[in-house]
Amino acid sequence: MNRDVFDSARISALDPASPGARAIADLSWWMIGGFSAVFVLVMLLTFFAIYSKGRGLRQQVPWGNHRFIFFGGVVFPSVVVGALLLLSLALTSTARSGPTDLLIRVTGHMWWWDVEYPEHDIRIANELYIPVGRRVRVELLAKDVIHSFWVPNLAGKMDMIPGLRNELILEASEAGVFRGQCAELCGLQHAKMAFFVIALDGQEFEDWLRARRAAIDKIPSLVLQKGFEVFERAHCGECHFVRDTGAQAKIGPDLTHVGSRLSLGAGSIPNTEGNLAGWIANPQAIKPGNHMPRAFISPEDLHELTQFLRNLE
Ligand code: CUA
Repeated sequence: MNRDVFDSARISALDPASPGARAIADLSWWMIGGFSAVFVLVMLLTFFAIYSKGRGLRQQVPWGNHRFIFFGGVVFPSVVVGALLLLSLALTSTARSGPTDLLIRVTGHMWWWDVEYPEHDIRIANELYIPVGRRVRVELLAKDVIHSFWVPNLAGKMDMIPGLRNELILEASEAGVFRGQCAELCGLQHAKMAFFVIALDGQEFEDWLRARRAAIDKIPSLVLQKGFEVFERAHCGECHFVRDTGAQAKIGPDLTHVGSRLSLGAGSIPNTEGNLAGWIANPQAIKPGNHMPRAFISPEDLHELTQFLRNLE
């Protein structure tokens, strides 16, 4: 299931699935059309100039050379570029204003995404669940360097700058899984700083919220298992957070719901049992340079730890 979703997630600015992305795609086509018209006109004039040289054709042109340059080289490009500028300014102002139904706070880290639902007290990583047809206000922050939040099918891209709070409106007009990507070069693993936006129909989104709360209620029974003892012995809690346990660090991603995630390593690999065990055993082999060291534990302990984490849904 996870692997299929991982492989089939949509990512294209020309395949819009929201009113905002539709407006951007339309503007792109207007730009491609407008600039193509300018290009074709300039090329025709260039060929005319080359062809007419020495043939006395220019004297037959009914308008003067200067007027020709003024209208072809100044007026026409100014009108085209000016119209496209006004169109894009109007678009950017509507894309960021208006009332919203849900708040999600996303913080960019090297190289993963911390995702909080402040109104629902839920914290996950590298994926955003949103309800279809509702406007979601996404607060964009950065922990270390500049990152950029981009889900091409759903919205334009917006930079995440340390010390600054940016905002973006996300809205999906159809259910689906959309892939997002960091769009600002942020270091070695910039390419493996991806995420997913999962747009669910209203009731399914409510079910998703309920399932997260149920998963939190399950944690007290999970910490009695051997896997949690391995988790503590391997010092996972010195970087990671798991709700209602002694693991309260916020250096790495919050693992409270890690078992329900689609991917590991911020979109690097599908979150399957084997991949999770492989990630814990040697994360540097999968995503070199990431800040997680390898765990030196026995295969039996690795199995128990993997089971524990997969049960954190
Ligand atoms: Cu974060 Cu590129």
